[in-house]
Amino acid sequence: MNDDKMMVTVAVLGGTGKEGSGLAMRWAQSGYRVIIGSRDAERAASKAAEFNGILGDTLIEGVHNKEAATRADIVVLTVPYDAHKATLESVQSEVQGKILVDVTVPMQPPDFRKVFVPEGKAAALETQAIVGAGVKVVSAFQNVSAVHLKKLEHEVACDVLVTGDDEDAKTHVIHLVEAAGMRGVDAGPLANAVAAEALTPVLLYINKKYSVKGAGIHITGIAPSVAE
Ligand SMILES: NC(=O)c1ccc[n+]([C@@H]2O[C@H](COP(=O)([O-])OP(=O)(O)OC[C@H]3O[C@@H](n4cnc5c(N)ncnc54)[C@H](OP(=O)(O)O)[C@@H]3O)[C@@H](O)[C@H]2O)c1
Repeated sequence: MNDDKMMVTVAVLGGTGKEGSGLAMRWAQSGYRVIIGSRDAERAASKAAEFNGILGDTLIEGVHNKEAATRADIVVLTVPYDAHKATLESVQSEVQGKILVDVTVPMQPPDFRKVFVPEGKAAALETQAIVGAGVKVVSAFQNVSAVHLKKLEHEVACDVLVTGDDEDAKTHVIHLVEAAGMRGVDAGPLANAVAAEALTPVLLYINKKYSVKGAGIHITGIAPSVAE
């Protein structure tokens, strides 16, 4: 894949929602070509128009999830865990040969502040099983609250754990993390995604316990320049 971000198209499936919209706007602002996807092409177009209004420029396009996945170099999945399997199955052939970034946190209502480990051990591992070995699945962004992402000028003071089995794909995703204003930390193979996914309910518990919004994580002991 081209290293010049102006030549890289990022599709955010579920980019009409809270987490995906903040990421999409931050990436568009930083120079990536960004498409948001939805189950409903009209909703995607209308949300894209709303986000372009906030950005003050026509930087984001909104189309159906399937078209977004077809046109992308990197596909980012930001849908609730309930919709995870069905959304992946709907774009299974379109994502072949690409990097797929899974942001999903497995959750079991009604207790969103209690860790839920899914049958496949991690949502990201379930993703890999659904899309197959032809897709480079990388897991990231589970511990970054949408509350921070939507404040576009605000530097998010959290680290992002990036896990995956393809080193080159992880490097591309660390660049995406940096473009969104955070530090990406290579946290090992995709099997380690279970740790990042499980941290989110813990952070939601901390938010409530300490009456804060958007608690996050910061890894100590590594210099900013050696995060990769
Ligand atoms: N919100 C956060 O602060 C945060 C932080 C870290 C990680 N995450 C994770 O990021 C993912 C997205 O979170 P979110 O808060 O952005 O979710 P959301 O706003 O509730 O939903 C995101 C999008 O997913 C699509 N969607 C919703 N229900 C669906 C269904 N039943 N079937 C298919 N698509 C459906 C919708 O898009 P269309 O209707 O346009 O198709 C929706 O706009 C989740 O896995 C969450 O755990 C969220």
